[in-house]
Amino acid sequence: MAKSMWAGRFSKEVDSKVNAFNSSISFDGRMYKHDIMGSIAHATMLGKCGIISREDSEALVRELQKLCEDIENGVVELDMSAEDIHMFIESVLTERLGEVGKRLHTARSRNDQVALDIRLYLRDEVFQISSLVERLIKTLCDIAELHANTIMPGYTHLQRAQPITFGHHLMAYAQMFLRDRDRLDDVVKRLNENPLGSGALAGTTYPTDRDMVTDLLRCSRTMVNSLDGVSDRDFCIELANAISIIMMHLSRFSEEIILWCSWEFKFIELDDAYATGSSIMPQKKNPDIAELVRGKCARVIGDNMTLLAMMKGLPLAYNKDMQEDKEAIFDAVDNVKLCLSTFIPMLETMTIYKDNMRNAAAKGFINATDCADYLVKKGMAFRDAYKITGGLVALCIEKNTDLEHLPLEDYKSRSELFDKDVYQAISLDTCVNTRNSKGGPSPESVKAQIEYTREKVNTYEAHTVMAHYITEE
Ligand code: ARG
Repeated sequence: MAKSMWAGRFSKEVDSKVNAFNSSISFDGRMYKHDIMGSIAHATMLGKCGIISREDSEALVRELQKLCEDIENGVVELDMSAEDIHMFIESVLTERLGEVGKRLHTARSRNDQVALDIRLYLRDEVFQISSLVERLIKTLCDIAELHANTIMPGYTHLQRAQPITFGHHLMAYAQMFLRDRDRLDDVVKRLNENPLGSGALAGTTYPTDRDMVTDLLRCSRTMVNSLDGVSDRDFCIELANAISIIMMHLSRFSEEIILWCSWEFKFIELDDAYATGSSIMPQKKNPDIAELVRGKCARVIGDNMTLLAMMKGLPLAYNKDMQEDKEAIFDAVDNVKLCLSTFIPMLETMTIYKDNMRNAAAKGFINATDCADYLVKKGMAFRDAYKITGGLVALCIEKNTDLEHLPLEDYKSRSELFDKDVYQAISLDTCVNTRNSKGGPSPESVKAQIEYTREKVNTYEAHTVMAHYITEE
């Protein structure tokens, strides 16, 4: 094992178990590119400000770029006994450049370095999550378009309530995911700030130009206070929260998919490539993906809680507890990407059983509100119409029939306002087609929702290009 960077102050090497306990390279190693990017910007700034010589600055930038490629191509392997990715990169650089390598850490601390690295790393991740959410929304629009006319029962309390269309149901999810997409943009506003130059906590005496680093890294602004710069992990919590909400939405959707796949519903069937069998029951086809997504929602909520709990008692500024931020936020990021990228093709390939949806909508007196509305349109007060319709439903149950097949005499026995046009008024098609209010389930309304949603998704395109920053000027 290499000698510690901070060996001067100590009379012994650290115990090997302590080193393993302390080390974060096994999980922060994934930030190597972003660490190098930050270092390139820092070295560039040091040279421009005359804090190190131009030649040294250029040599550092060149070697950092080379090292990045070497790690990428497997020429350099991360040393798992290193304390963290920051120490590892600096030590390789120093092996290669000697004296010059040792100049990189001028006017910088690992405290501001790690804060920057996580931000740069997560910025790229957020862009990936955002484009997956966009893909999901587009998929929902495409399926909804095909099913703007597909009648299904809408539920409250999981009891059949009023008829809607499958397109309408899907577009509800599309709105949820649009909000998620907006939330990610909002997270980026604060995540994309530059803490570098905060030093260990109290800035630096060198004549640095923090704003230059901010520009080089395409950050939106330089963090205002150096203590805050190294202490803040709000951006991790905000992102974990935004991801938790995405997962919660995916989880509710999964729950419905699981229900819809059951023989009790049979509204949909998942493609064989997106379902699994049982080791003992030959007839089974299980919606494992949807169940796993529902399950993974729990761990992501856990990640969110880990971050909040980790921060709640910490005095300013950096504390080692904060090293625990990475596993939690990386787990949330990894899992939401995994879930989204599996969920989308599962939706794209599922079979939709329109007839079963329609048959389910035809049962359960789902048109009772429309029957009452029929009387209201003929002049009766809604509360009276409601009562009469309730009586008609009870009569149907007694006669083992439904409102569509109840004889006109029975209707008339409860109110003279009923006429044979009642059958037209309470037909499922009428019930759905006339629910034309803005946001409603009628095919017209659903088409308008799809159009709005597609337009909104297209406005996002521009944001995703930001993921690139320079490695040289
Ligand atoms: N590995 C550390 C972390 O992830 C880097 C910062 C260490 N700073 C320190 N003063 N020990 O938080």
